[in-house]
Amino acid sequence: MSDTRLSPNQAGAIAELNATRPVKVIAVTGGKGGVGKTTVSVNMAVSIAALGRNVMLLDADLGMANVDVLLGLRSRFDLGHVIRGECSLEDTIVTGPHGLQIVPAASGVKRMANLSEAEHAGIIRAFSDLYHRVEVLVVDTAAGLHDSVTTFSQAAHHVVVVVCDEPASITDAYALIKVLSREHGVQRFQILANQTRTLGEGSNLFQKIFKVCDRFLDVGLEFAGCIPFDDYLRRSVQQQTAVVDAYPASISSVALKKLAAKADKWRVPEGPRGQLEFFVERMVGAGIGPSTVLQ
Ligand SMILES: Nc1ncnc2c1ncn2[C@@H]1O[C@H](COP(=O)(O)OP(=O)(O)OP(=O)(O)O)[C@@H](O)[C@H]1O
Ligand SMILES: [Mg+2]
Repeated sequence: MSDTRLSPNQAGAIAELNATRPVKVIAVTGGKGGVGKTTVSVNMAVSIAALGRNVMLLDADLGMANVDVLLGLRSRFDLGHVIRGECSLEDTIVTGPHGLQIVPAASGVKRMANLSEAEHAGIIRAFSDLYHRVEVLVVDTAAGLHDSVTTFSQAAHHVVVVVCDEPASITDAYALIKVLSREHGVQRFQILANQTRTLGEGSNLFQKIFKVCDRFLDVGLEFAGCIPFDDYLRRSVQQQTAVVDAYPASISSVALKKLAAKADKWRVPEGPRGQLEFFVERMVGAGIGPSTVLQ
């Protein structure tokens, strides 16, 4: 683990710089468990960092941390310690490949999987006090329709919904899109097909979800692409290394880097949206939105 603490002078200078830079926040979600949310989050974050951006990855699967395990990192503190008041958010940050900054979650801590809405909001607001220079925040969410999933997704600018070609994944993704759109005001979604085995499987999957959403919901869906099923990806998990670093020429790596290049071009909304969101004050600080303080 590397020490990421800064002197008060350095911190002050960076905080000032940060206050003028909005942060692009991408939540990776999917409804169903095991579809590949963590795999996509980690590899997308590593790949965007490899493009030279300052990237932070938040493990928002709060009671069942996976991100640090996938990257073979050890952390002294995690979000469990933050919630218990034993350290600050800054103390949890560990540095991964290409300078990626990771905020780890707790593992096997039931209470963390059942935090209140106010505690989730507290975590989101705590990012406002970070001194770290961040251009992109990737948020890996838990499975299901839990409050943490909807709160963290709503607080992001872009929501990537990971789906696999199996009925439960499609129905769970639809249920998630329905709840996020009807109850949380999220209107745009990026659909990412994962573990595809044939050419055309991804776009068929997208068409299926598009049809049902178009019929029943008022949402805009975009096809973010597909990540093929790849044994090299499984091998990289065993090696606790991101596949994009371990096997950069593998079919999944090529697709994940393509996704990262695409996500790198997604825009940050112009100004705050009047709801709980990550780094909201940096938008206000950048002078691109109303200077109202948001709840
Ligand atoms: N494109 C792929 N090719 C091969 N295996 C994959 C692919 N994507 C994910 N996997 C494998 O599928 C399993 C589940 O992946 P992952 O942990 O990323 O899913 P998840 O959606 O985050 O799960 P959970 O809901 O438990 O958090 C892992 O073993 C992972 O290595
Ligand atoms: Mg996961």
